[in-house]
Amino acid sequence: MKTHVLFVCLGNICRSPMAEALFRHYTAEAGLAHALDIESCGLGDWHIGRSPHEKTLKILNEHQIDTSGLQAALFNKETITKETYIVVMDEANEQTIRSMVSEDSVKAVCRLLEFHPGAPDNINVPDPYFSGDFSGVYDMIEQSCKPLLNWVRKREGL
Ligand code: 4NP
Repeated sequence: MKTHVLFVCLGNICRSPMAEALFRHYTAEAGLAHALDIESCGLGDWHIGRSPHEKTLKILNEHQIDTSGLQAALFNKETITKETYIVVMDEANEQTIRSMVSEDSVKAVCRLLEFHPGAPDNINVPDPYFSGDFSGVYDMIEQSCKPLLNWVRKREGL
């Protein structure tokens, strides 16, 4: 079974699809696309089946990050295995996930900003759906994805 990296946010149209696209990009760049199964999902069902927020697509396109295949999905416990790393965006996401998934049934539950080289103390990715700051959030996610990939590689011997 492949190592599974699942990014989780609230609506799955802003932060976690950005993380999915960027993490895919760095994984492909490292020649590891075959080794990792990369997905994202949301904890709310409002946008299921829809494309990411137009500003998510805009900022990814501006940075030449591939957005194909991004489509909002609801978190589904059935997709979680012992090979899954669950990477959440904020404390609320983490609390919801921990209420549904026990830590010992997955590889890890972590917050993306734990991997940011200059992370703020609260390690929450602020929600651009409410703040409008898609550019600031892109930068935070972008700077965290490579260190996250390096951590997964080390743990998995990839
Ligand atoms: P995300 O942002 O969790 O970063 O995708 C949100 C998108 C939509 C909603 C909330 C957060 N919403 O309430 O529809």
